[in-house]
Formats: sequence, structure tokens, C-alpha cells
Amino acid sequence: MRLFKTPMSKTLSRIVVLIGGNGSNLQAIIDATQNKQAPAAFEVVGVISHNPTAYGLERAKIAKLPTYIVSAKLFAGNKTGFETAILDILATLKPDLICLAGFMRVLSPEFIQAYPNKIINIHPSLLPKYPGLHTHKQVIANQDKEHGATVHWVNEQLDAGPIIAQAKTPVMPDDTEDSIKTKVLTLEHRLYPMVINNIALGINTEVNQ
Ligand code: GRF
Repeated sequence: MRLFKTPMSKTLSRIVVLIGGNGSNLQAIIDATQNKQAPAAFEVVGVISHNPTAYGLERAKIAKLPTYIVSAKLFAGNKTGFETAILDILATLKPDLICLAGFMRVLSPEFIQAYPNKIINIHPSLLPKYPGLHTHKQVIANQDKEHGATVHWVNEQLDAGPIIAQAKTPVMPDDTEDSIKTKVLTLEHRLYPMVINNIALGINTEVNQ
């Protein structure tokens, strides 16, 4: 695994994380910014959740990060209003990079075009295999021999933007949906901060593991 490179510049890239649930990836990103041995080239300047009860919001508050809730339920049937509310927050945060981490809403082309080449996502499969939901279930049902996680640029097709990096794990005969989900999450927590750091450093190279 590639170790973090030391940032050449003291100017940290401004990261905004969009979440919707547990926020374990957010936690890994926060932890990377707090690692004094290997200083990150980025800082988290805000966390936006579409789910008011997402545990990730607690994680952000513990780390004293600004949090914002744009409830997808309150904006049900009004995607434009939902996205405009997020775009308004982003306009104040001025992110260099927007990281989706368990954000369970598909962004419109208009939203994506507002931040060209600035939105990335982490997905729990070896894309292009298994875009969308229930990736672990499909891996077990199909008796796949390997599984993993992918970080990719977000474009207008669901989970289909250019792949930046992947991390793989073998699938063992006794693996279950739960066990393989845990293994993949562990990979995600290493992969995502590393990719974000590389992008912040301007090294948009693969981090395949
Ligand atoms: C992760 O599996 C990620 O790949 C997917 O949603 C899940 C988010 O988990 N996009 P968490 O909220 O970061 O724990």
C-alpha cells in the first residue's frame, strides 16, 4: 500500500463529504486529517447529510466539523429544490473536492455539471460489476471469487464514471453477506482517504491494492 506523501504546500484541499448513514467512511477521512505522523493534504470543511438521523452527523460533530442537513424526505418530489439547497451550501464552502460517502441519492446532470471533475464516490463493488444496490448479496449469490471497492469520478450515469482506484478481497466459501460487507468496508476505509489525498496532491494515479 502506498504511504501518504508529505504535502509540498501548506494549503490544504477543501473537502466536503456528502453522507446519508453510518458515516464510517467519513470517519476514516476525518481520522486521516488527524494523523500527525502522516499529515493529510486535505481538510474536511463541511459534512452534508440527506438523512437527519445519519450517525455520520454525530461523527462530524465530535470532530467539530460544520454539519448541514438537507432532508431528502422533506424535499420528496422536488429534486431541484433538494439539489439547490445542497448547491447553496456548497457555494459557501467552496470545495476543491466533493466526496460522496454513503450519499444515497442520484445527482442530476445539472448538479454534476456545477462541479466538473470535482465529485468522487466510493462504491462497494469492483465496478463495472454490480453498480447500484445490494452488491454484497449479488457477490454471494453468484459465488464470485473476489469482491472489493471502487472509487470513481461521478458522471451522469449511476456508478459508471471513470475509475480512479480499486481494492480487492478474496471471497471465501464461508463468507456471508455480512462478513463480506465488513471486509469491503475495511478496504474502503483505507482506500478512500488515500485516493482523496492523492487527488489533493495532484497525483491522480491508481491506488489498486
Ligand atoms: C459504503 O459501503 C459505500 O461504499 C457506499 O455506502 C456505504 C457507506 O457506508 N457508497 P458508511 O456510511 O460510510 O459507513
